[in-house]
Amino acid sequence: MTSNIGVMREVQGLKDIDVTGKRVLIRVDFNVPMDSHNNISDDRRIRMALPTINYCIDHNACSITLVTHFGRPKNGYEEEYSLKHIVKRLERLLHRRVEFIDNFETSRDEIATCSLERVFLLENIRFHDGEKKNSKELSEKLSSICDIYVNDAFGTSHREHASTYGITEFVDTKVAGFLMLKEIEAFGKALEEPIRPIALVVGGAKISTKITLLKSVLDKIDKLIIGGAMSNTFLKALGYDMQNSLYEDSFIDTALDIMKQAREKGVKLYLPVDLVTTNNLDNPIDIQIVPAQDILDEFMAVDIGPATVKLFSEAIGLSNTIIWNGPMGIYEVDKFSRGTNKIANAIADTYAYTIVGGGDTADAVEKAREVENFSFISTGGGASLELLEGKILPGFARLDRKEENN
Ligand code: 3PG
Repeated sequence: MTSNIGVMREVQGLKDIDVTGKRVLIRVDFNVPMDSHNNISDDRRIRMALPTINYCIDHNACSITLVTHFGRPKNGYEEEYSLKHIVKRLERLLHRRVEFIDNFETSRDEIATCSLERVFLLENIRFHDGEKKNSKELSEKLSSICDIYVNDAFGTSHREHASTYGITEFVDTKVAGFLMLKEIEAFGKALEEPIRPIALVVGGAKISTKITLLKSVLDKIDKLIIGGAMSNTFLKALGYDMQNSLYEDSFIDTALDIMKQAREKGVKLYLPVDLVTTNNLDNPIDIQIVPAQDILDEFMAVDIGPATVKLFSEAIGLSNTIIWNGPMGIYEVDKFSRGTNKIANAIADTYAYTIVGGGDTADAVEKAREVENFSFISTGGGASLELLEGKILPGFARLDRKEENN
């Protein structure tokens, strides 16, 4: 039986079609980390989309329209999620002018007109209510400004949204960009014929989105190493008093179930044995390293402790394929970045095939200066976990397939 990766690998890419003289709409994922001053702290996702954009420019596409989401705006326009903050960086990386379209509806005619080699960037597509609802109306409107749809947003390819999925119903030619295909190749190497043991290291604060996925990956992995805010829910499920730590009460049963299933399936599960804690995140003067069972009143876990670093590093060192998704603590704060840095070092020091997934984790690897020592840095966090689950990602599902050409 062909694997999910095998199915996705069969989609057509840019090189299978001719973009000359065509209006190309490229769905990219420019959901980049940004600080409170609107400075992009890691532009990897933009840089990784450049080959696809440049290919269209070099092959004389008549216009290129870039579409992306940014963050999770709740109700239409929100200044902090405007893409105007990334135009300059994009122009610098592309070495050309980018025309920012803040109102896609009213500028539709201008964008739809062929104008050689112009690059447009649409305002955050999630300002449209229809994006996340995968509305036909928005999908159709987007399709009306292009002849060719290129999906290069691997990081968002697990979402069934108008610009990642719905639009494919209305465009005749729809292919994958170079990044999408590169990601599939890298994950294929890790998942199709993995060199065992295969370890999944997870962390980060997106507990509710990731925790349910963990259950379905237990069949694919030999070790599950959990740190960061994600592990707090598991420790709470074990009956520990997590005090002010971030955890999800509503997922305690899920955590218990994952622990039970891991035992039954013979998957080795590792949780923190000690934690770095503080009672004041904004002004962390009192910092205590304590056993996971002994968090002081009013304190919260902000990083894994040194004993946990040792435990996790040993488990990592004995693995031959390692997929890492999510930091081990609040790594953005220097004082709490030690655990995440050490795990980056431990994974980088192995001779295993190593993949990092997710914007934050990639950023953490960059900060630990270990980029060169990983086999592959993926631009997808949630997307890579869903790949691991064995799913065919919606962003690939309805692209043209190679056999359709034969
Ligand atoms: C990501 O950062 O994981 C992707 O850009 C998807 O974003 P989302 O989780 O808000 O859909």
